[in-house]
Amino acid sequence: MRLVFLGAPGVGKGTQADKVVAHYCICKISTGDLLREAVRNQTPLGLEAKGYMDRGGLVPDSVVIGLVREKLADSSNASGFILDGFPRTVPQAEALTKVLNERGVRLDRVINFEVSREEIVRRLSGRRGCPNCKATYHVDFAPSKMGSACERCGEALTQRSDDQPEAIEMRLRVYEEQTAPLISFYEKQHVLSHLNGAETVDTVSQKSLTDVGDTPDGMIILKTPAEIEVMAQASRVVAEALDIVRKAVQPGITTEELDSIAEQEIRLRGALPAFKGYRNYPRTLCASVNDQVVHGIPSKRKLKEGDIIGLDLGAIVGGFYGDSAVTVAVGSVSDATEKLVQVTKEALHLGITQARVGNRLADISHAVQQHVAWYPTGVDAHHEGDGTDEFCV
Ligand code: AP5
Repeated sequence: MRLVFLGAPGVGKGTQADKVVAHYCICKISTGDLLREAVRNQTPLGLEAKGYMDRGGLVPDSVVIGLVREKLADSSNASGFILDGFPRTVPQAEALTKVLNERGVRLDRVINFEVSREEIVRRLSGRRGCPNCKATYHVDFAPSKMGSACERCGEALTQRSDDQPEAIEMRLRVYEEQTAPLISFYEKQHVLSHLNGAETVDTVSQKSLTDVGDTPDGMIILKTPAEIEVMAQASRVVAEALDIVRKAVQPGITTEELDSIAEQEIRLRGALPAFKGYRNYPRTLCASVNDQVVHGIPSKRKLKEGDIIGLDLGAIVGGFYGDSAVTVAVGSVSDATEKLVQVTKEALHLGITQARVGNRLADISHAVQQHVAWYPTGVDAHHEGDGTDEFCV
């Protein structure tokens, strides 16, 4: 699960991130926390950042992007993360998209917490923190049972230097100018949800958990019509590119050449190859010749008359994936191979007719199985390409 918590200073991003992190056992990457730690340790980064932070301004993009890039490369974040306080500018958001694309992953959701300005000022001016165990309190809403000492470890609580009135004003101004544009940035990517952050901590966290996919009855959150349209766009890109690759299949062409065509056609349509870089997969296309069932890596192998080739292609548009595969005969093929392709196609179409509301996945596989089982050689066997004439669906 990969999430971004967005919102003005003091809306409760850090408080809610701690709750979701504990629930899902994923990591929190808070640029504010990382920068404050650097300031405390007086590292070169901390010394550079301190002035910007005390005034309530933003630390330069290049510094923060480098910091997050390094954190995301850490293998402990492979199973998911919440980014709290990053991105905060459009260049930061673009850099994040680039880093995730390089890894073949995307953001699952961006939650924009909304709280009135008066409430933000109350929250920030009353916030206290423990410099030792990092617990956060609020003098009115979440006071420590030990007054001005931390109830967990007894350390004296402190106030952040940027929670002074002047710095708060500056932070809110910077938010409006530089961070608020990210709302439309992520709206366009169809990953944004708005959440009322003005309710109690527990109510907000219940809603945050629901929003990121943990509905009480475990149901899948349905995609919006706009999200479905983007998914359709991704699928259209795949269909068009795959059609061009399919037409290029002929004796003598290498699977590597087909791969180049696939990548070019996907990029021409403003999309990204979905497979390239995914778990280190090196190519755009999966090209499986004859007895290779799936995931054939394109190479210098030349196709021969009578081969059949499975072409599997995926594209990403606006963070959504389209994916499709076809099997193509190379030149003229034996009657049995032709029949294999024909029966497979018929079975696929019968399976698709069963993909409808109220049916189960098993209805699809049953339709496929029933059609293929009618033929003497059966569905479980696999195609050997050079004459054994068995079926693979
Ligand atoms: P950062 O630490 O990220 O500060 P921020 O975004 O201003 O956010 P806060 O930590 O102030 O608020 P929050 O939304 O997390 O609220 P919290 O949960 O603590 O950044 C600090 C500085 O670092 C920046 O100004 C900048 O200089 C630099 N920086 C960081 N990231 C950067 C980036 N990407 N690029 C450039 N510079 C960057 O809650 C606030 C208070 O409210 C708490 O006391 C809490 O107990 C209370 N509270 C929370 N929820 C509720 C609730 N529901 N009801 C009542 N009280 C609540």
